[in-house]
Amino acid sequence: MNNLENLLNEAISLFDSIDNTTELEQAKAHYLGKRGVLTEMLRGLGKLSPEERPAMGGHINKLKKALEKTIDFRRETILSKKMEAQLTREALDVSLSGRGLGMGGLHPVTRTLERIESLFRSIGFTVVSGPEIETDFYNFTALNIPKNHPARAVHDTFYIDDGKNEHLLRTHTSPVQIRYMQSKRPPIKIIAPGRVYRCDSDVTHTPMFHQVEGLWVDENVNFSALKGVLVDFIKQFSEHEELSTRFRPSFFPFTEPSAEMDISCVMCNNKGCRICSYTGWLEILGCGMVHPKVLKYVNIDSEKYIGFAFGLGVERLAMLRYGVNDIRMFFENDLRFLKQFN
Ligand code: DAH
Repeated sequence: MNNLENLLNEAISLFDSIDNTTELEQAKAHYLGKRGVLTEMLRGLGKLSPEERPAMGGHINKLKKALEKTIDFRRETILSKKMEAQLTREALDVSLSGRGLGMGGLHPVTRTLERIESLFRSIGFTVVSGPEIETDFYNFTALNIPKNHPARAVHDTFYIDDGKNEHLLRTHTSPVQIRYMQSKRPPIKIIAPGRVYRCDSDVTHTPMFHQVEGLWVDENVNFSALKGVLVDFIKQFSEHEELSTRFRPSFFPFTEPSAEMDISCVMCNNKGCRICSYTGWLEILGCGMVHPKVLKYVNIDSEKYIGFAFGLGVERLAMLRYGVNDIRMFFENDLRFLKQFN
């Protein structure tokens, strides 16, 4: 018995002195392994008399359990100490100020688009979109633009070389009117914002720019509704209640009558300056009552339904809102320019 107790004490103090798991496993093998001290003792039981055997066997097994428990406990202690040390070593100082990622921001054209969309949504228009690669049919024919119309000229349209000049980059958002009316019946009240393309480049033109198309078709839509919606829109957009507007007769093949809407020049307040070419007015959009031929192309009865449409240039409105005098700056991606809007 004394022997066994000594053995237990000796083993415990050995385990307690060890502070890494490899050595601990070696020590474990020394006592409990195949050739370990305790294993040999159990083997030796055979030499004892049958009377002594059970008691001795019981003592050795108890000792074995005690050693196993001590080893498990020691192993846990070693591992948690190791973890603690690692946590201390790798501690993060969360109070340090970060290095900071550059904050992104919305492009002025995106901001302008969002503003236009939310104003039209607030008066019941739905926002829809259409493809940027169009067919000749949607971009021209269905909009009553005849084969010999100048808008089809190769010099201002990007045709896609499919051998037939069938496909092109849309030159305006008006084809979305046709696509929408083909699948939906009135009442229709939509705007269609998006990119459009023309082979053009100078201070006021870029080969890619943005338009917002508008279309309202119902039984009783009239020209005064058109004026009401657009005048209200531009006053809200510019946050300028006193802004003067005027409608000039114009021509678009897909509207009849057609008009262009001008606003008093925001730079000179209608006095005349370089920006408004000394007229006092700035042209901002084209509009008109939807041509009956267009309704016919989409099988809407023009005796029963009537509508108005408009198309406005987004960069134009962004230039007015932010006082930018060269449209190309929007697309040069110069951060010094873009940062000013955020
Ligand atoms: N699509 C015309 C353009 O790009 C703009 C336009 C004018 C759209 C009159 C319309 C409209 O819907 O009624 O020049």
